[in-house]
Amino acid sequence: MNLARQLHRFVDSLDRRYRPTIRRSRRAEAWWIGLLDGVVSLQSDRLYLRRAIVPAIIGSGARQILFIGVRGYTRAVVDAMGRHGLEVWTSDIDPEAAPHGAPARHRTGDVCEIDALFPEVRFDLVILNGVLGWGVDSPEDIERALEGVMRILRPGGVLLLGWNRGRIPDPPTIPALMTRFEPCSFESLPQRKDFPGATHLYAWYGRRG
Ligand SMILES: C[S@@+](CC[C@H](N)C(=O)[O-])C[C@H]1O[C@@H](n2cnc3c(N)ncnc32)[C@H](O)[C@@H]1O
Repeated sequence: MNLARQLHRFVDSLDRRYRPTIRRSRRAEAWWIGLLDGVVSLQSDRLYLRRAIVPAIIGSGARQILFIGVRGYTRAVVDAMGRHGLEVWTSDIDPEAAPHGAPARHRTGDVCEIDALFPEVRFDLVILNGVLGWGVDSPEDIERALEGVMRILRPGGVLLLGWNRGRIPDPPTIPALMTRFEPCSFESLPQRKDFPGATHLYAWYGRRG
């Protein structure tokens, strides 16, 4: 494991343990979020998210975006898309994650029931990064999550899946992905992107039908 990733794991464990205490001071929390963001952004996959994926989404014409799974360090990604006029929604199962979500457009709930959580909104693009294998682990839950994502996407909508090799089966073997989605490229980005020395990958899938 490279140094940036080890550092990320360490500060992530501190975040889980001490965030309630840090939150008592707004100044301390702002400083902490800045530190977290800095540590996480050192990773190549995170740089790719901010420097390649976010600009591609902004330029794509997609209007309604759902970003599932929010932490302090994902706020910059959500804010960047919002600043460019996109209607960005966020969701996380953890109620304590809500302050990191999109202001006024965050819903707390399980991605396995995402279509019940968003019965009235349909998205052009859903970002499901680092959630499968990080809380949504069983094959049954992975299926339910992907089936639900398919239902909240508009026809022609796109899913960006990010995962860690070894934490979930390789996506081409996941039945819901094979039947409900088809691999696609997005703007000028390749269908699948991995990073030397890291376990993280991204892949784009278009909703079938
Ligand atoms: C490793 S973090 C990834 C955060 C973010 N999506 C990213 O791009 O880095 C995993 C997040 O998924 C959330 N999560 C775990 N299980 C979930 C579930 N069943 N439904 C929704 N969110 C879940 C956790 O609360 C946590 O915020």
